[in-house]
Amino acid sequence: MCGIVGYTGENQAAPILLDGLKRLEYRGYDSAGLAVRDGDALAEVVKATGKLYHLADKTDQGRSLPGNCGIGHTRWATHGDPSLINAHPHVSGNCSGSGSGKVESDVVGVHNGIIENYGELKEKLLRHGYLFYSDTDTEVVVKLVDYYYKKYKIGPVDAITRTMVRVRGSYALALMFKDHPGEIFAARKDSPLIIGTAENAAFLASDVPAILKYTRSVYYIGNLQVARLSPGSVKFYDLNGDEITLPLTEITWDAEAAEKGGYEHFMLKEIHEQPAAVRDTLGSLIKDGKIDLTAAGITDDILLSLSQIIITACGSAWHVGIAAQYVIEDMAKVPVRVELASEFRYRSLPMSKNILVIVISQSGETADSLAALRLAKEKGAETLAVVNVVGSTIAREADHVLYTLAGPEIAVATTKAYSAQLVALDALAVQMALVKGTVSAEQYSHLIEELIGIPDKITRVLEDKERLQWFSSKIANAHDIFFIGRGLDYAISLEGSLKMKEISYIHSEAYAAGELKHGTISLIEKNTLVIGVLTQSQMIEKTISNMAECKSRGAYLMGVTTNGNFAGEDSVNFTVYIPRTDEHFVSSLAVVPLQLLGYYTSVNRGLDVDKPRNLAKSVTVE
Ligand code: M6R
Repeated sequence: MCGIVGYTGENQAAPILLDGLKRLEYRGYDSAGLAVRDGDALAEVVKATGKLYHLADKTDQGRSLPGNCGIGHTRWATHGDPSLINAHPHVSGNCSGSGSGKVESDVVGVHNGIIENYGELKEKLLRHGYLFYSDTDTEVVVKLVDYYYKKYKIGPVDAITRTMVRVRGSYALALMFKDHPGEIFAARKDSPLIIGTAENAAFLASDVPAILKYTRSVYYIGNLQVARLSPGSVKFYDLNGDEITLPLTEITWDAEAAEKGGYEHFMLKEIHEQPAAVRDTLGSLIKDGKIDLTAAGITDDILLSLSQIIITACGSAWHVGIAAQYVIEDMAKVPVRVELASEFRYRSLPMSKNILVIVISQSGETADSLAALRLAKEKGAETLAVVNVVGSTIAREADHVLYTLAGPEIAVATTKAYSAQLVALDALAVQMALVKGTVSAEQYSHLIEELIGIPDKITRVLEDKERLQWFSSKIANAHDIFFIGRGLDYAISLEGSLKMKEISYIHSEAYAAGELKHGTISLIEKNTLVIGVLTQSQMIEKTISNMAECKSRGAYLMGVTTNGNFAGEDSVNFTVYIPRTDEHFVSSLAVVPLQLLGYYTSVNRGLDVDKPRNLAKSVTVE
């Protein structure tokens, strides 16, 4: 998973490309590179390892690279180390070194995705005299395009479509050809790519925020389609090389929304945007006091016909699935299975039309979730995508799409998208319960009122952030943290634990509280932090007992509970109180202190909160 950008127009390309890459750094940040052409001159390639600022420094913020047409890349290594040699752009020529400097090559390109049959293609190209300098699959694609271009003496579009027929895997490709100055050619399959257009300019990028400063007019290029960009003009082609027309979309959200807006980190900003994300998402689903899922294609008839729901997702989105499982089963009495998308294909789950498979994904591009969606469709299930990024692959391929309205999420650790997903699934549960007759009309209205009240209550939780900031300074040197809870509190523990470990690098685990004593409790020693989530009234006492078991072995305790009489007040060392709400929806409130705790702990440890090591925002590899 990587980010790509392209620009051709009247302005100097390199600063625009660097600016776009900056906004795509969440997609990968182990190396970056640019290729820029100045009129008819050869393309000049510059690469740097590490974060983007190294490339910016190397090119004097882009100013030292003349030329109005160029492509850029920020990398998250898949094939080959994060080294200069493997950094993109890659070139078709048999050059020595890493392909940097002025390149004689006919083709130079950047790529996001994975070419599965790159080994076999490399063999073929080696037989035809091509030499390889990198370990990347991208170099193979660039050389394959060059091979067809020369062998058949065809134009760039035909050389690209021939390559597309030959390669297996996923790609968003941007290529420049020596014989076509001022033009960029792009192709896409299963990796995100958008094309932007403006007066006398054209852009391409892996994601909209990269070009939003320059244009709001965007084309969502489809799978197996090719684009040809020149200043002020974009043409599209299908796999036959025939020109096709795509609809132009006007982006309505603001570029400001993708900036930090005064917060120190995107993550903190996004934590604070949760009331709006939840309000907007619910606002799109609740009309005149009733839940209306028809915009997502989910009618009451569909809900009535369902005998089972299978939820599949990865990471935090999977945690949303675990929470939704408790809510849907309890409220609508419909059995729910939750499967990790990366394991989905290894289960022989029976599917039929009356099973709804829900794929939850912020990015809509997660490779495992996409593969699970495709498998579910193949097996004949009805599919619903709960997705944040409009026009993403999962959104386009599912039978039905319910968009969360969290806005662009930049921090690698998800917060607002998670919360928006949670309430979207809650709304689905409530509507299903009504349709299935498991709640009365009166209970239905009450549940909706409770849902509508959540954003304000999140705001109140956020007001307590200073205490969490203080507490996080005490735990910044912890080695292990355990998050425990029962029922929905367990689902929230999973998310709290992931937030902590992914950005603070402190080992943490989430356990169903009752399970701790079956082995894991042996890890508890003096001052091990145990965080109990205590919001489900039927289970609070039991979880407190489990926390007491830990305390008697030396643990230090933190609790997250609802306002009111809290039986554990004396035994728990630090307690966070959240407002009361219907217990089905309390996860939306309980998760917030845990997000803040992870955030402040990471800050206290001096880490890169928004771009934690080894991670990328959008995991487009399996
Ligand atoms: O874009 P998706 O929602 O499909 O992403 C799924 C996971 O990769 C994501 O939730 C990941 O676990 C985050 N780093 C969690 O903060």
